[in-house]
Amino acid sequence: MAGSTPSIQSKDAADRLSPPHLSLASRSVHADDGISAHRAVAPALHVSSTFRYSSDPEELVTLGNVDPLAPRDSHIYSRVSGPNTTRLEAVYTSILGGEALTYTSGLAAFHAMLVFLNPKRIAIGDGYHGCHGVIQLLSRLTGLKQLPLDCAIEELQPGDVIHVETPLNPTGEARDLAFYAEKARKAGAYLTVDATFGPPPLQRPLDFGADVVMHSGTKYLGGHSDLLCGVLAFNPKRGDEWINQLRSDRVFLGSVMGSLEGWLGLRSVRTLELRVKQQSESATEIVRWLEEQRKEPNSPVAALVERIQHASLQPEASQPGSWLQKQMPNGYGPVFAIWLPDSDTAKRLPSKLELFAHATSLGGVESLIEWRAMSDSTVDPRLLRVSIGVEGVEDLKADLLHGLGELLKERK
Ligand SMILES: Cc1ncc(COP(=O)(O)O)c(C=O)c1O
Repeated sequence: MAGSTPSIQSKDAADRLSPPHLSLASRSVHADDGISAHRAVAPALHVSSTFRYSSDPEELVTLGNVDPLAPRDSHIYSRVSGPNTTRLEAVYTSILGGEALTYTSGLAAFHAMLVFLNPKRIAIGDGYHGCHGVIQLLSRLTGLKQLPLDCAIEELQPGDVIHVETPLNPTGEARDLAFYAEKARKAGAYLTVDATFGPPPLQRPLDFGADVVMHSGTKYLGGHSDLLCGVLAFNPKRGDEWINQLRSDRVFLGSVMGSLEGWLGLRSVRTLELRVKQQSESATEIVRWLEEQRKEPNSPVAALVERIQHASLQPEASQPGSWLQKQMPNGYGPVFAIWLPDSDTAKRLPSKLELFAHATSLGGVESLIEWRAMSDSTVDPRLLRVSIGVEGVEDLKADLLHGLGELLKERK
């Protein structure tokens, strides 16, 4: 087994970001074309955990195992790299705009990122509570200190981290990345962005000054509620140094994605743009419609939905040239939040719906709704998080209207 990582993946870095003229949709389907030892159109599922060295003793090179038949698809041991995840990383690199590495889960990626950057302080706001759990764990080991996201710039020192989640879990509201990039620059801190709720084609945080963009690939990148995945992509201005160290760290953290997940991830990323565009459009339309229904005196929406939050309702969404329009030019995230009058009513709504599954997570082709108190005790118990899938938008509206109507009858 390798003591550190071979360089066979990094030499193709420039190739993997290219060709720049291709669209996101084409890159999602073709960025890994060159990485295959055979002619099959669909990727094979390789389950091997280990790979033969050359049978010629003269060709044995420590930490190198280049197969002359497949120089871009050569491996040693699957904790270092494997065929499926290597192809998946080639596609993620191309579509995220910086060298990408995959991990067992979003939180494993966040953990690996903090182990690498090893900040003394991290400025972070609300958002996904699991990231706060990782910070607490690291605080025990390293004394890492947590600061509010909007702390005074004087509280930050060079090497610290500003971590921005945008759009935010669970409300789907966006945050201004250019603002935090400038703050990080002034403080000498790193800007890291959890872009899970805004995958391509909705936003490109590396273009807005992020040093690292992170995704829970379990959500939109995976898109079918059947795989766990985490992704880190690095700003090209960091060169090869960061990616090489992180790849090497991952060998020892052991948080490498499995072959089946890598294969599922590739299957999924082919349709990323189609799915996300549709989900974003449908979510924005449903939010617009709910707001309209709230003004209809006889609608169950008016009787029960007290508040809605989503990036499309932020004032900047309707200001031409605003930071939000610049940051998310192709649409807003497909998740939003609604508030019902009380916790008991909120708890009952999912049971009245046919198309929305009552489940945690988001980003899959199936629409989900979650009474968020089920998985995050810090969230207002009147809040429901809604993740829009790829079903027909009118069917989803009808389901919500019917479910709210049934709930209203029970309350009368
Ligand atoms: C914004 C955000 N970041 C990170 C994660 C963690 O991802 P994973 O479950 O893949 O570890 C989640 C999970 O819900 C999330 O919503």
